[in-house]
Amino acid sequence: MAASFKNLIGGKWQEADGGATFDDINPAVNDDVIGRFPLSSPDDVDSAVGAARKAFAGWSRMPAPQRGEVLKRIGDILTERKDEIAFEMTREMGKPHFETRGDVQEAIDTAYYAASETRRMFGHTVPSELPNKFNMSIRRPIGVVGVITAWNFPVAVPTWKMFPAIACGNTVVFKPSEDAPHSGTLLVQALMDAGLPDGVVNLVHGAGKVGAALVSHPDVNAVSFTGSTETGAKIAKVCGGMHKRVSLEMGGKNPMIVMDDADLDLVLEGILWGAFGTTGQRCTATSRLIVHEKVHDKLVDMVCDAASRLKLGYGNDEGIDVGPVINPAAIDKVMGYIDIGKEEGATLRLGGERATGGSLDNGFFLKPTVFTNVTRHMRIAREEIFGPVLSVLKVDSYEQAVSVANDVQYGLSSSIYTNDVTLAFRAMHDIEAGITYVNGPTIGAEAHMPFGGVKQTGNGHREGGWEVFDFYTETKTIYVDYSGKLQKAQIDNT
Ligand code: UN1
Repeated sequence: MAASFKNLIGGKWQEADGGATFDDINPAVNDDVIGRFPLSSPDDVDSAVGAARKAFAGWSRMPAPQRGEVLKRIGDILTERKDEIAFEMTREMGKPHFETRGDVQEAIDTAYYAASETRRMFGHTVPSELPNKFNMSIRRPIGVVGVITAWNFPVAVPTWKMFPAIACGNTVVFKPSEDAPHSGTLLVQALMDAGLPDGVVNLVHGAGKVGAALVSHPDVNAVSFTGSTETGAKIAKVCGGMHKRVSLEMGGKNPMIVMDDADLDLVLEGILWGAFGTTGQRCTATSRLIVHEKVHDKLVDMVCDAASRLKLGYGNDEGIDVGPVINPAAIDKVMGYIDIGKEEGATLRLGGERATGGSLDNGFFLKPTVFTNVTRHMRIAREEIFGPVLSVLKVDSYEQAVSVANDVQYGLSSSIYTNDVTLAFRAMHDIEAGITYVNGPTIGAEAHMPFGGVKQTGNGHREGGWEVFDFYTETKTIYVDYSGKLQKAQIDNT
């Protein structure tokens, strides 16, 4: 009998209205059922939003540094439970234990960083046009925030959203992915154990219906979403019609440019981590390798040789490099792109099929895959595959490399390997992306730096770092007139 889990609404663990459930399974060991979770309805969302609204009154009035104390305790508890949560995360979504430890660490860093920002909620003081008058701006929380996240960073990414949100005095309704409900539950349990008041963060499990109800709920003031570009577009439309603030973090087709002077051993390590880490299922994954023709053949040989030796398996076992993809739909999607790549005339140099044999038959495993002879117009060079597939494009110059890199609708992360400082600095400006790494792969964002993309990857907001605190606050402008008489702005009226 699978363990049963609940929603958390106003500090009370409860079943979905109507009692419907869904099962969550281990993608590496398919007969391991992690648990049964509530398949919630719009009524559950409504209750959660009501609880969040009720909690907002007290939480928003608490001095920000006191909210920071709670965030510090959350960081402490996540530190104590790091291994335990990482184990369960690997079991639920497949990435190896060393990666899931990193995921929890990102949440810990985000907690301590958000705590420190509670002492830095700066406004401005600005001279007035008029005598004996004082002008300033302060920040106020927005209200109830809807947080909707994907399964690939099931602890870190929700914390990128909810920790700054609560640091600023907002309250939250959190809908985790239905592919990672257990990780979301363990995170919320840690918040409650740290003494977060009831209703400040509420948890509602379920499928797209829950997200839709949250986004369109009139008492939800802001929405933060990580997921597909298609779903993001739908969310933006609803929020736009309701004049609701929305932050969208969506797809990527992240390029790594390798110039002919690069250190190829360093590049190789970067590719293995950037393209095949998290089985390529990161919005920041290195999915296009844009290589100078002088080093192309050598590098392709090195990559295919090393990638063929990566060890696939259940990530809680010893020595595993790469886990499974998340579910059967992911297998179909990635295999579909492998067929498209072959039809388009790219050369399949490595992989391109399911990994089978022994315990691999019990999970959703795909071999690391490398396509060469890819051209910029092919779909495998333009569309997000979200799996262990690397498309290699050959170029003859820096200019051509940048032109290929920019020739996609996305713009999240990017990277250039070169020892030429001039090219490195040119790339920082030339590449159309929210993030550029020099001599590192496209993955590895740090919690205290802004994170987000340009073009179809985002809608202009950033997560992480200092910028996210702007998203979760409204500016209030204040004028204090201590002249004792009516003074009329502007200066020309006086
Ligand atoms: C994501 O895939 O949604 O920089 C986020 C990185 C991670 C975050 C990825 N720290 O790759």
